[in-house]
Amino acid sequence: MARPTSAPTGRTLTFDEDEIIVSKTDLRGIITYANDVFVRVSGYGEAELLGAPHNILRHPDMPACVFRLLWETLEQRKEIFAYVNNMAKNGDNYWVFAHVTPSFDGRGRVVGYHSNRRVPYADALEKVKPLYAALLAEEKRHASRQDGIKATMHMLEDVLKGAGMSYGEFVFSLSTQTRLGSAA
Ligand SMILES: Cc1cc2nc3c(=O)[nH]c(=O)nc-3n(C[C@H](O)[C@H](O)[C@H](O)COP(=O)(O)O)c2cc1C
Repeated sequence: MARPTSAPTGRTLTFDEDEIIVSKTDLRGIITYANDVFVRVSGYGEAELLGAPHNILRHPDMPACVFRLLWETLEQRKEIFAYVNNMAKNGDNYWVFAHVTPSFDGRGRVVGYHSNRRVPYADALEKVKPLYAALLAEEKRHASRQDGIKATMHMLEDVLKGAGMSYGEFVFSLSTQTRLGSAA
């Protein structure tokens, strides 16, 4: 299916704190399931989403290295949490905090992928935005996409080294807000 032709509008959408945007894909990232929140927030009809590649939501402000990390992690049969800026059908954007996992069959084979997304904490987003802007600026300094991704993967590694954290620890260090049930 063709990518949408909308340009970013600069307007930002949100969704409710207690809502979860859910989608499932096949092994290539083709959407096989979209819940009603996904349909509403993205502005696409269910029939437009099913069978479409997940990059139908790709926002041009997102650094490509985040998606490289996502796919590398899934290929290692692991889960990943990531902040993602998505673009709705009309060009509006919406930020999500996504948890993406492989789905396994009874024999332990990966049969697809599954993502649940919540609205991000505001304090985390204020740290993610400048980081992603810096990664995107570095990516654009390179003539080839591959060189851009390579350079920004190194940049991300340096940020993690500087923070002394794994990627997983880093992602959860971004918000200081706690939920009910957090360890005291
Ligand atoms: C389960 C799953 C959910 C995904 N969700 C999103 C998403 O919400 N937004 C997005 O831009 N990419 C998402 N992706 C990643 C896309 O498949 C794709 O790698 C990304 O949009 C970059 O596209 P591009 O390589 O064509 O630039 C998801 C992938 C999987 C497997």
